[in-house]
Amino acid sequence: MTGGYYEKVEQTAALLRGQIDRVPDVAIVLGSGLGDFAEGLEGAVTTPYGEIPNWPASAVIGHAGKLVVGSLAGKTVLALSGRAHFYEGHDLRTVTFATRVMGLLGVKQLILTNAAGGINVAFKPGTLMVIDDHINLLGSNPLVGPNEDRFGFRFPDMTEVYSQRLRGLAGAAAIAKAVPVAHGVYVAVHGPSYETPAEIRFLRTIGADAVGMSTVPEALVARQMGIEVLGISCITNPAAGVLPKPLHHDEVMEVARRVQGQFSSLLEGVIERL
Ligand code: HPA
Repeated sequence: MTGGYYEKVEQTAALLRGQIDRVPDVAIVLGSGLGDFAEGLEGAVTTPYGEIPNWPASAVIGHAGKLVVGSLAGKTVLALSGRAHFYEGHDLRTVTFATRVMGLLGVKQLILTNAAGGINVAFKPGTLMVIDDHINLLGSNPLVGPNEDRFGFRFPDMTEVYSQRLRGLAGAAAIAKAVPVAHGVYVAVHGPSYETPAEIRFLRTIGADAVGMSTVPEALVARQMGIEVLGISCITNPAAGVLPKPLHHDEVMEVARRVQGQFSSLLEGVIERL
């Protein structure tokens, strides 16, 4: 996607504005295997990505590819079940198209979720980690290229990508719902191959607790647009080399599905508190 990118984002936002009668209070991107949350929204209206103009398709197993608008705890929630990934061959502007649309819709709070490998050896499969900060090792940045001033600044500040306020709400929700959460740093890598054990030792050395292939592009773009961001990783597997066994996407999906109940109740707790 090159020329007229802003216009395409605006065209898609305008269409969605016509379908949704109010600005969503919060948007949520549901990561691999975590799509069930959208099913719990009241009065849900679902639109498959294929029916939304300009919307990138995601073909990854475990991603439904649909936009769901419904309500929860008196809030209008826009859930995106499935996202475009860098490793699929999309450029980062395509990867962040949905986030741009959220911004032009007027969304002020965005919850980004993902499945991630646990680098921190204290994390067990099924641990939910509130993202305190990130490291971008994608080798690129969605803000590369001529700056679109209508989106935001050329050099946006990233001192607090993951809102301290929202992290606090997640902590309160975790206690209220009796869902234990960990905190840590998420590192984004290009993928799609999983890491080598040497890469995981390197990532641990530079301060990462969890590794995954998403979230960071969306968070960067959201911050440039002034959207408050909360990030939650579902640790689906010990990262490569932590245990003497190979990694499988099937295992990632299975663990994510297993913790969906806890994950959804944590999200509910956050939304109740927004
Ligand atoms: N590495 C990268 N991405 C992932 C992993 C992992 O171990 N698990 C789930 N997503």
